[in-house]
Amino acid sequence: MALLIKSGTLVTAAETFKADILVDDECIVQIGADLPVPSDAEVVDASGKLVLPGGVDVHTHFGLPMAGTISSDDHFTGHRAAAFGGTTTAIDFVVHGPGALAANIDRWHAMADGIAAIDFGFHMNITRLDSQVEKEIPGLEQEGITSVKVFMAYPNMRLSDGDIFRVMRIAREHGLLTMLHAEGGDVINLLVPEALAAGHTTPLWHALTRPTWGAVEATLRGALLAAQAGASLYIVHMNAGGEVDQLEYARQHGVKVMGETCPQYLLFTQDNLRQPDGAKWVCSPPVRQASDNARLWEGISRGILQTVATDHCPFFYNGTQPIMFDGQLVAIPGKELGRDDFTKIPNGLPGVGDRLPVLWTTGVQSGKITPNQFVALTSTNPAIIHGLYPRKGTLAPGADADIVIWDADRSLTYGLEHAHHRTDYNLYEGMQLHGYPEKVFLRGHLIVENEHWLGHPGMGRYLHRKSGNPIL
Ligand code: URP
Ligand code: ZN
Ligand code: ZN
Repeated sequence: MALLIKSGTLVTAAETFKADILVDDECIVQIGADLPVPSDAEVVDASGKLVLPGGVDVHTHFGLPMAGTISSDDHFTGHRAAAFGGTTTAIDFVVHGPGALAANIDRWHAMADGIAAIDFGFHMNITRLDSQVEKEIPGLEQEGITSVKVFMAYPNMRLSDGDIFRVMRIAREHGLLTMLHAEGGDVINLLVPEALAAGHTTPLWHALTRPTWGAVEATLRGALLAAQAGASLYIVHMNAGGEVDQLEYARQHGVKVMGETCPQYLLFTQDNLRQPDGAKWVCSPPVRQASDNARLWEGISRGILQTVATDHCPFFYNGTQPIMFDGQLVAIPGKELGRDDFTKIPNGLPGVGDRLPVLWTTGVQSGKITPNQFVALTSTNPAIIHGLYPRKGTLAPGADADIVIWDADRSLTYGLEHAHHRTDYNLYEGMQLHGYPEKVFLRGHLIVENEHWLGHPGMGRYLHRKSGNPIL
């Protein structure tokens, strides 16, 4: 059955205009004023509402094993939470475990395919490099994977600069995008045991042992490695003002480098880590200072950074205390594992469902970014950079009908119950939000209506992404 979304105000990355949207066979087929109503069409009245393309979150970790536990959303609960917040596409990272890359990808498909609830893709982590892995990287495109993530930190995952350069060269040859976790691994590896030996065990020390300057240096180092390899680079979870400076410098000098940040780096500081419940904010890289928040806001508003993702990687705050979730008691070991030792706190935060509502209020409502920039940062740019555009990331004939009807007038006090993440806390508990998704369509299927979930596990489709994507 066709669907006609009538009289909404469409917001794309480029323009804002009043129009109807006709959907058929899961795609947008026509956009225009006063479209005739087909006899078989369901009509949704969007007058007084904004109509946005579904959000594209290109940085999630569902079911990620870490620190003796696992991130607490799986590919269903995480996707459903994403949908409640207006996100209809997510890209997750395949862990580079033992065996061939293809075997690792199969493992991630086995976790996701049967339960996915929004459309999804994968990035491939490359955390060891030998001649066999080098041979396998070009085969990623066949799997629909056109991006690889490399790390400059984490003892068992980081690559040497030389190996990062080798990965970048292969990626360039095959039109793949290299993604970089930019932190100064050598210094972190010295500071962490020193802090513990000195008796510093609190969550704040997670940040103090991961210095900002290391992230700044790593960002420039990554950009310069990319320049030498002639590769395209995307720096994930940018967190420091100095990183924005380096990104701007590299881009001004013609380096093909782009940046992503996440709401936590725009909105939180080390003061949050000083709180009694500071473990809730432990993530890598860490949250920094107010001046870093401000420079990152400037970075997204001036187009120095291109995307806002989440790095969604939730854990329970107290995984010994079950919560009622989907009618069952659930408890998954979480942040309490590091009560006496910050190195044992699983790193990561919930956020996939928070991203759009929180960024709308703190970015658009506060006048830091326009509604069009909001769409560009959260949907269009990520779709272009990661090879999903124009199927995803826009409202246009031929695109998948991933559509959010956004009530810009809705005010609510936000928190755990709205977010739907499978965890026991929300970082934005009590925040006054203004603007919220009212209806969310995945390929024309209504999957969220206000507080009601109408989708089902398995309806999300795996996305084979394009290679050779543009640099924004
Ligand atoms: O703390 C975080 N961000 N955990 C996820 C892993 C990563 O580096 O993105
Ligand atoms: Zn990372
Ligand atoms: Zn991540």
